Amino acid sequence: MKGIILAGGSGSRLQPLTKVTSKQLLPIYNKPMIFFPLQSLLRAGIKDILIIIAPDHAGDFLKLLGSGHEFGCKFTYEIQDKPEGLAQAFLIGANFIGDDNVTLILGDNIFEDDFSEDIKNFKSGGRVFAKEVKDPERFGVVEFDENNQAISIEEKPAQPKSSYAVTGMYIYDNSVVERARSLQPSARGELEITDLNNLYLHDGQLDVAFVKGRWFDTGTFESLFEAIQVVRQKELALSQENQAVREPLM
Ligand code: TTP
Repeated sequence: MKGIILAGGSGSRLQPLTKVTSKQLLPIYNKPMIFFPLQSLLRAGIKDILIIIAPDHAGDFLKLLGSGHEFGCKFTYEIQDKPEGLAQAFLIGANFIGDDNVTLILGDNIFEDDFSEDIKNFKSGGRVFAKEVKDPERFGVVEFDENNQAISIEEKPAQPKSSYAVTGMYIYDNSVVERARSLQPSARGELEITDLNNLYLHDGQLDVAFVKGRWFDTGTFESLFEAIQVVRQKELALSQENQAVREPLM
């Protein structure tokens, strides 16, 4: 299984912060944002990781992440010239993917869940992860039938058919490259991951699993702030725990 972190985009909703650096390098309390999706891949044992970045701040990513040696993995970098959609990751990454399956995670998504089992057990088709949200119209939204089977996914619908959003973690078999090649740009000029997911769904090959823990898509000031607060609480709790363990020794 190969891994891709998609960390391009324009980050326009986080202006002016994203004038001077990339969204995925902004701090989430004590770590750059990209450390979180990276951790999700590393935890699942993925060691061969492509990082797709925009041209503007490419050097900052290299400075922060380097070869991957420090993280016990190998990084490959590719530039996405323009933010032409999430599914373009599989065209840019075609050579990198080769004959393997691939897990894509968005560089601004933070998950509490551990996806190791989902990734290790994955055999074929596609697997995406849905989460109930208050603002489904911001995301790809899953429609379910009466047996809770996914029947369609709509990208940013004005009238969402459910409150379940597709999150930024996707596992695909090798056919993803061919499927991505068959996509046409949407009305907003992007190769949509929702169209890609619908290709798998219509072939009866999309598994929609659910995210159990908290999930943050840190693309807005509010969600960024919320993620920082949660990570801070966790870090403080962890350092208190460590202190408690150390105290008897002191
Ligand atoms: P978005 O949050 O949808 O887009 P954005 O990051 O450009 O932000 P804004 O809408 O505020 O301008 O992107 C989700 C993630 O995917 C984020 O990590 C950036 C990345 N991305 C790419 O790398 N390339 C792309 O073409 C797009 C659309 C997004």
